[in-house]
Amino acid sequence: MARVIAVTNQKGGVGKTTTSINVAYFLSKMGKRTLIIDFDPQGNATSGLGIDKQELGATMAEVIMRQIRLAKVVLPTEYKDLYLAPSTSHLANTEVELAQADGRFARLREALNGVIDYDYIIIDSPPSLSLLTVNGLVAADYVLLPVQAEFYALEGLGQLLESMKLIRKGLNPSLKLLGVLPTMMDSRTTLSSQVYDEIKKYFPDKIFKTTIPRNIRLAEAPSHGAPVGVYDRFSKGSRAYKALAKEIVERTSR
Ligand SMILES: Nc1ncnc2c1ncn2[C@@H]1O[C@H](COP(=O)(O)OP(=O)(O)O)[C@@H](O)[C@H]1O
Ligand SMILES: [Mg+2]
Repeated sequence: MARVIAVTNQKGGVGKTTTSINVAYFLSKMGKRTLIIDFDPQGNATSGLGIDKQELGATMAEVIMRQIRLAKVVLPTEYKDLYLAPSTSHLANTEVELAQADGRFARLREALNGVIDYDYIIIDSPPSLSLLTVNGLVAADYVLLPVQAEFYALEGLGQLLESMKLIRKGLNPSLKLLGVLPTMMDSRTTLSSQVYDEIKKYFPDKIFKTTIPRNIRLAEAPSHGAPVGVYDRFSKGSRAYKALAKEIVERTSR
């Protein structure tokens, strides 16, 4: 059975997509068959893996509308053992269409039901606490929470943790927090280390040993349609995501 990890934080720009792509890539490099589900209408994980959104057939939008099975939209990538279920802006329409529909919170879980082809499934969530994000949380075994090392880092997290609690009480009792990941750390600034200390204070058992540095290579890689491990595998960003993937395998094997 695949381990399903939702990369979630309702703030935009904290590193969800960067984390999804690069963790998934390094998991696949470790020989784990890995599927990235792009579950953000912005489709950044799709374009970040070099896929031309204009050329796509069916996507996650049709899966969520129960028009097609997940397996039918999954694409291989250039990289062995790494697969993508793509999204485009059409995914935003489903949110409106699903508003009153039956089983609207569990459409993604339903789509994953019986999918046995992967060791890991990574869900890249949109920057909101929307129906799509809730679908991710209901479908997942684990939440990976990236937190940007900035002044307002922890603001709004209470809301997400509250949503997780509600989902645990209802639709997904086994949802766990896999870990909290400090991203865009700048070792030269005291702000970064203050934010790090603060995250550690709130999540002493959950903060990952690995932190992600601010690294220009991570920002450049998507425009080359490649994970950083391919674009510049000796960069600091690449090393960090490789270490994180190892930590994730350890944490999910317990
Ligand atoms: N560690 C990092 N160092 C430098 N730039 C980063 C880093 N992580 C993400 N970025 C850049 O910051 C922006 C937001 O990151 P992204 O992963 O798209 O966030 P989200 O998916 O949470 O909105 C992107 O332009 C991305 O390339
Ligand atoms: Mg994103």
